[in-house]
Amino acid sequence: MKGIILAAGRGTRLYPMTRPVCKPLLPVYDKPLIYYPLAVLMQAGIRDVLVIVPPGETDTFSALLGDGSQLGMNIQYTVQPVARGIADALLIGRDFADGDDVCLVLGDNIFWSPNFQQLLKQAAANNHGATVFGCYVDDPRPFGVVEFDESGKAISIEEKPQNPKSNYIVPGLYFYDGQAMDIAANLTPSARGELEITDVNLEYLRRDQLQVIPMEDEYVWLDAGNAKSMLQSAQTIHDLEDKGYYVGVIEEIAYREGWISAQQLHQLGQELSMTEYGQHLLSL
Ligand code: G1P
Repeated sequence: MKGIILAAGRGTRLYPMTRPVCKPLLPVYDKPLIYYPLAVLMQAGIRDVLVIVPPGETDTFSALLGDGSQLGMNIQYTVQPVARGIADALLIGRDFADGDDVCLVLGDNIFWSPNFQQLLKQAAANNHGATVFGCYVDDPRPFGVVEFDESGKAISIEEKPQNPKSNYIVPGLYFYDGQAMDIAANLTPSARGELEITDVNLEYLRRDQLQVIPMEDEYVWLDAGNAKSMLQSAQTIHDLEDKGYYVGVIEEIAYREGWISAQQLHQLGQELSMTEYGQHLLSL
């Protein structure tokens, strides 16, 4: 399975911060925002990742993450020339995926739950159809909203409905088999001029190949898209780390997955030893 991070938005809801710096490179507490979605792909066991960035930004992203070899990974970059929607990432990533299953994650979505890795591995292991998640929110209207029947089966998905049929939204994390690229290629842009990821999910639903895993009990899902949610995200990560739950620590995941040695982890920790983040790596 290959991973795609869509990090190509202009981040206009965070102006003026995002005029000179792309949103996924901004800090959320102690690390850049993009570490969180990258960590999600890594926890799913994905080592090959394509990062889709805005025009002219390849160098800034690669200054942060390089070619991924320091994490035992392969990280590549490509540009989304025009913001054509989330499903466009599947078309941009088509050659990179090369027929493999893909996991697409949005560059500003943050996830945590005690059993998240287990859910991710479960989603990655399902290599037929699509797997997405369902998160309960108080106001689902700005998101893709999924409705379940009594048996827990998804029966509808609507993008930004005025009158949502449930409080469960589909967050920016999607596992697809090889059909996704063809489905995306056949979409027509929505009223907001975008290729909607909800339309891809709807097509899987029509084919009876969409699995929706509801996130239960204790979990965190954050969409760090504006100043308020950036602050809330930073505070949430701080509080979790205070309790000993480290989120988005890519070097630690690479080590636990067996992609880098203890010695390599120590080296990465040394480079950051002046920070609590680096001290955490050294303590492992
Ligand atoms: C997008 C998707 C929506 C999804 C959300 C998650 O919304 O269209 O279905 O629930 O991401 O962050 P957008 O960021 O385009 O408003």
